[in-house]
Amino acid sequence: MNSTVVEISLPALRHNLRQVARRVGTVPIIAVVKANAYGHGVVPVTRTLLAAGARQLGVATVAEGQELRHAGITAPVLVMGGVFPDDVPLLQELNLTPVLPSQDAILMAARLVKSRSAPLPVHLKVDTGMSRLGLTREEFLDSLHSTWPPTLRLEGLMSHLASADAHDGASAEGQLARFRELLDAAKSAGLAVPAAHIANSAAILRFPASYFDRVRPGLMLYGYANGPTAAADLRPALSWKTHIVQVKRVGAGQPVSYGGTFVTSRPSTLAILPVGYADGYSRTLSNRGHVLVGGRTVPIVGRICMDLTVVDVSDLPEARPGDEAVLLGRQGAAAITADDLAAWQETISYEVLCQISPRLPRVYLED
Ligand SMILES: Cc1ncc(COP(=O)(O)O)c(C=O)c1O
Repeated sequence: MNSTVVEISLPALRHNLRQVARRVGTVPIIAVVKANAYGHGVVPVTRTLLAAGARQLGVATVAEGQELRHAGITAPVLVMGGVFPDDVPLLQELNLTPVLPSQDAILMAARLVKSRSAPLPVHLKVDTGMSRLGLTREEFLDSLHSTWPPTLRLEGLMSHLASADAHDGASAEGQLARFRELLDAAKSAGLAVPAAHIANSAAILRFPASYFDRVRPGLMLYGYANGPTAAADLRPALSWKTHIVQVKRVGAGQPVSYGGTFVTSRPSTLAILPVGYADGYSRTLSNRGHVLVGGRTVPIVGRICMDLTVVDVSDLPEARPGDEAVLLGRQGAAAITADDLAAWQETISYEVLCQISPRLPRVYLED
């Protein structure tokens, strides 16, 4: 028996994709499935999203694109995290589309593409204000004076928003204006840009002016919204469950787990859970978070270990070995979301989801 499993609701993924489509209409959706589909398991998630209408896939690395191709997925794949010279033959062989973020990258790819093959389709990335990957405004405008290399075929121009989830929309609106300016400059210079795209989940939920020719949702496909997006109607797709492996009674004054950072203040009943930081259950939850047992919240006591966690079930005398403990998801009327875990860990839902270890089996449910 797998004592700890990650369950993924396929209907929830489809529902969330429909929520994207409801907003963007006929604009094609690039489903962002990097980082093992935000921890949800890339191949089954990708198949589900493609069958439900996603048109293209976004990954960070060539290895992630390779995993999709090895699984027999033939949909267009955009490799968004930058490319290195060694990647170019593989990009060509696997029909993966790189995002080129600098003049050097354009020259490098143009030089390394086998000249007798068809031109390699590429997207360029422009930096419209995030100061991360991408050609600066000046580099991009300069590049419009050069002849486009014959070994590359420009398929798209993209940028990324730094603060689409901020209450104040000024940063995103400024980036959208700069993106429009660069698209206009390309058009004036006679450089055809078939697909322009910039919208992540928060922009899809808030800025219809960001949709352009493609949208790139990640987080909202998995059922979470960030930023001021109250009416999003999304369904978290992932639940994370384990089972109590041992229940023990201890006296008052008993230190618990490594370092004895928790000491019982009363005679207590402890339940030991076979899950720990090696599974992605962050050690920062030590003495902070809680889990659900018997439809009730029970606190984590002491340090989270590599493979084990202790919770205090003193107020739940019926707890027994084998009982289900929910780390993320619903149990009865109670629920723990990735946002709850993120708040306890002082991080964001993205990191909570991505850090769930591949060692845990993913189970895909139709219900
Ligand atoms: C380039 C790019 N586009 C789109 C996304 C999707 O963003 P989100 O998950 O906020 O929708 C990401 C994720 O970080 C990204 O790096």
